[in-house]
Amino acid sequence: MLSLLLTPLLLLGAVTAQRTIEWTFVQNGTSGVIPVELITLSPTLMLQYDRADGNPLLLPNGEKAWAALWHLENNTATPLDTITDTFCAGGAFISNGTLVSVAGQPLEDPGQPPADGRMGIRLFGPCTSPDGSGAGCTVFEDPANIHLAVTRWYPTGLRIPDGSLMIIGGSNTNTFYNTGPTTENSIEFFPSRPGEAGTVRPSQFLVDAEPVSLFPRSFVLPSGHVFVIANNISMIYDVETNTELMRLPDIPNGVRVANPFDGTGQLLPLIPPLYEPTVLVCGGSAADDRIPAANLSTLDPATDQCSRITLTADGVKKGWEVETMPEQRILMESVMLPSGDVLLINGAHTGYSGYPSVGGSNATGSNSANPAERGMLYRTGTQFQSGQRITQEGIPTSGIPRMYHSSASITALGNIMVAGSNPHPAVVEPPTNLSFPTEFRVQYLNPDFITNGSPRPAIRSAPTQVAFNQKVRLTVSIPAGLSSGDVQVSLMDLGYVTHAQHSNSRLVVLQHTLLGNVLEITTPPNNNIYPPGPAWLFLVVDGVWSQGVQVMVGDGGNPPRAAQGSKVTFNSL
Ligand SMILES: *[C@@H]1O[C@H](CO)[C@@H](O)[C@H](O)[C@H]1NC(C)=O
Ligand SMILES: *[C@@H]1O[C@H](CO)[C@@H](O)[C@H](O)[C@H]1NC(C)=O
Ligand SMILES: *[C@@H]1O[C@H](CO)[C@@H](O)[C@H](O)[C@H]1NC(C)=O
Ligand SMILES: *[C@@H]1O[C@H](CO)[C@@H](O)[C@H](O)[C@H]1NC(C)=O
Ligand SMILES: *[C@@H]1O[C@H](CO)[C@@H](O)[C@H](O)[C@H]1NC(C)=O
Ligand SMILES: *[C@@H]1O[C@H](CO)[C@@H](O)[C@H](O)[C@H]1NC(C)=O
Ligand SMILES: *[C@@H]1O[C@H](CO)[C@@H](O)[C@H](O)[C@H]1NC(C)=O
Repeated sequence: MLSLLLTPLLLLGAVTAQRTIEWTFVQNGTSGVIPVELITLSPTLMLQYDRADGNPLLLPNGEKAWAALWHLENNTATPLDTITDTFCAGGAFISNGTLVSVAGQPLEDPGQPPADGRMGIRLFGPCTSPDGSGAGCTVFEDPANIHLAVTRWYPTGLRIPDGSLMIIGGSNTNTFYNTGPTTENSIEFFPSRPGEAGTVRPSQFLVDAEPVSLFPRSFVLPSGHVFVIANNISMIYDVETNTELMRLPDIPNGVRVANPFDGTGQLLPLIPPLYEPTVLVCGGSAADDRIPAANLSTLDPATDQCSRITLTADGVKKGWEVETMPEQRILMESVMLPSGDVLLINGAHTGYSGYPSVGGSNATGSNSANPAERGMLYRTGTQFQSGQRITQEGIPTSGIPRMYHSSASITALGNIMVAGSNPHPAVVEPPTNLSFPTEFRVQYLNPDFITNGSPRPAIRSAPTQVAFNQKVRLTVSIPAGLSSGDVQVSLMDLGYVTHAQHSNSRLVVLQHTLLGNVLEITTPPNNNIYPPGPAWLFLVVDGVWSQGVQVMVGDGGNPPRAAQGSKVTFNSL
């Protein structure tokens, strides 16, 4: 009896199959613009946002495009018209399924498009037509009437439990270090919270995180509070009361993880019944942030440190757990896989983010050097102890340097689109004497079960919308060769990828019962576990995942949405 009771818990704990996936790269097509920001939109479409800086892809009026849709079906890009400069924006999907991109690049050419992007709010979708031609598949902007309260460059956008967007930090201008009078050490929301239209909330945390505080890595915790990490400090913030509830211990060993010392962060999978939140940050730099940019070097080693902390009272008492990667890394993307493992990919072994400004960068045109062309896998299954989690087994070398302004995102098919890289303030194509020309080639990193065409699990039918804390039935198929004992259902936000951060990346493991080909799932208990908005469902059997199926979590209404689902409180700061 006892063992029967324990079995489901043990299975839920062991979220990762032991099977080693053999991955392969295939190059196909050119992105037309540089996907500085890359967002998975639908089964057939990816969105790319860039800067207007000489891209080969042209708008119908002959101007160079700085935004584009990427068609997964034929590996081509089509331009998207936008008004403001989308370069270095942040964003997220909000509760009604619209993708919101905020802030961006200052005005570059007076009288010429694009317009100043720093107060920009760009609304896209929902876009349901597979070829991206239908209603909702264009960028909507109304800069005179819909804009941020202040100018921002390099802020983070985060969907919070009421389904709206929290906009965190940034600078008013292009900069390497975020310091001096141009910092924007404040928080605002879209839509604005009652009584806060046109105003911002100053943040002492962001002041204290200077000068390594651009794109602060941020996550919503199961308590509904927001965890923010920048430089080597982190805090827990209560949106409702506008208070910083606590500071956590510094990241050990002087490691700093926000831009321009870009490390990458993930909230590890939230697993029922406890949903205990653990945050992981990997890479970045342990350089002294008081050294002037010109005295840093493109050859300064990045850190090889990953650090994780569980955000419960006990977890914080234990403090940060430090792990070592086989390689030093900066500017690295982290891609949450449906299995719950994290793929660490792209970036460099040495140097920093930003346009050429550090020692040695004038000669090469890049603040970083020594591209890291082989990814790593951070395994999160409970069978892996500290020191065993990071592996490069099965992961190939890409053959293409992808450092500053590169990106990687999982597609609905379940493979990884890897694209971009441009350390230069303009498009630089060969022949050139600069080291890392602008990269337009697109690659896919395919798991063996896609490449070899072996049968995969599939979600055959699922509702397009689900409420919180409800049992819902799906029809699935599981190939005979896979052991249906090791089944995981992953509800995911695939994130808004830019500058080594997967903003809004989230994986909630769903409780389930499998009866033949009927899979009964229990949706997330409430809007703190999964802030209401669009999601992807993946079925993972024996470490092999299905294609993703889109589902709206919550009622799909405009933000703000009221608290929904079970009122149970979880052990989370
Ligand atoms: C590249 O994509 C095109 C269009 O989808 C396809 O026909 C072609 O087979 C692909 N090439 C490779 C090498 O995968
Ligand atoms: C790729 O597909 C899109 C959407 O169907 C279409 O608009 C575009 O013309 C296609 N491109 C090519 C080169 O076939
Ligand atoms: C975090 O950074 C600050 C400012 O550079 C430094 O004083 C402090 O020692 C660092 N913390 C750790 C644990 O290295
Ligand atoms: C930076 O480099 C300059 C020129 O080499 C030197 O004079 C200065 O002392 C250095 N500053 C720091 C803080 O290292
Ligand atoms: C790069 O070159 C510019 C222009 O010559 C110069 O002002 C700057 O100091 C140089 N930067 C470094 C880090 O050497
Ligand atoms: C690279 O080439 C450009 C244009 O030919 C020239 O102005 C520049 O000095 C060269 N840079 C280096 C580092 O050789
Ligand atoms: C989603 O909500 C935002 C904020 O209220 C609104 O501006 C936008 O138009 C909404 N999207 C749709 C498709 O209604």
